[in-house]
Amino acid sequence: MGFRINDIVTWIGKIDWELKKFHGDEYSTHKGSSYNSYLIRDEKVVLIDTVWEPFSREFIINLKKEIDIKEIDYIVINHSEVDHSGALVELMKEIPNTPIYCTKSGAKILRGHYHQDWNFVEVKTGDILDIGEHKLTFIEASMLHWPDTMFTYLSGENILFSNDGFGQHYASEFMYNDKVDQGELYQEALKYYANILTPFSKQVLNKIEEISSLNLPIDMICPSHGIIWRDDPIQIINKYIEWASEYKENQITIIYDSMWNATRRMAECIAEGITSNNKEVVVKIINSAKSDKNDIIVETFKSKVVLIGSSTINNGVLSSTASVLEMIKGLKFKGKKGAAFGSYGWSGEATKLITEELKKSGFEIISPGTRELWNPDEEALNRCRDFGKLITEALN
Ligand code: FEO
Repeated sequence: MGFRINDIVTWIGKIDWELKKFHGDEYSTHKGSSYNSYLIRDEKVVLIDTVWEPFSREFIINLKKEIDIKEIDYIVINHSEVDHSGALVELMKEIPNTPIYCTKSGAKILRGHYHQDWNFVEVKTGDILDIGEHKLTFIEASMLHWPDTMFTYLSGENILFSNDGFGQHYASEFMYNDKVDQGELYQEALKYYANILTPFSKQVLNKIEEISSLNLPIDMICPSHGIIWRDDPIQIINKYIEWASEYKENQITIIYDSMWNATRRMAECIAEGITSNNKEVVVKIINSAKSDKNDIIVETFKSKVVLIGSSTINNGVLSSTASVLEMIKGLKFKGKKGAAFGSYGWSGEATKLITEELKKSGFEIISPGTRELWNPDEEALNRCRDFGKLITEALN
């Protein structure tokens, strides 16, 4: 069911309480998500975005409880990814000629997804759609996070419909930022940024600067996932500025995988060395094979230093280590430092390979890394403690 945000805007999306994975299996959604669609009723009626395809029928039924679908004058698709455009197929069966406002790239992607020649109206930054007492202004936001992404601003009500931007995979019946647990909200907003928007941080900063220069009053930010920012919406914009600016907390994260616990024992002794030398720094130890990969990325995002350890296997690294390294490389973190460690039996390439991957990922390498033969004895563990102490020097 929809709910009224104000006299002219109604939320008409879907809260997906069951969702545990998003983007295939690439993103864990521990707290579900929502697909937010918004209905604007002025002299003209506008629908902004839809929902994911499995909820199409439910969406159409709920929409019909709000309005005669034939009264919809315009559809705006801020972003063509299927979680927002998925109900278009069902919707367009009812109103096949209704114009769909989107970017040029959006029209191309929608054609690619649905193979339909709908009535696309391509818009650019600054284009305005007059809908009666209010106006919609379109703002292209390319690569936040797809080439087609745009924001839509509703003047008069001062609402920014930001699609994925400022969103969170967070299902809540409360729907507004001031009504939910702030810890949960920020955990999910940060996880979303870290796992999806990190590579586009430069574009985030440029877009925020561009929007600020337009001097548009913003009373509410309505994203397409999660809760709506109505209480001090600028707070999430300010957070995005922080997150996009080589964000780091005073934290070292040790990510390891281990075949017979030798690399685990190394990880723990490295942590001991770190904490013996620095009582302030937060140290987190994570087994990459047993932990959620997106939570690992959150901890990486928050860290000044990331240490990655793996046993050597088949002249390479363990598969969970390879997976984490691939994610880290793709996310293009900036301003982070790192080093490698691991135990080995004969060839022992893992430490060198991890170091090379971290280098390719833009990390400043603190040390060539440390490796220990077979099961580390007390002397070897002391070397790990010393390695930990050395690592703390990189915090300055
Ligand atoms: Fe929520 Fe990029 O789709």
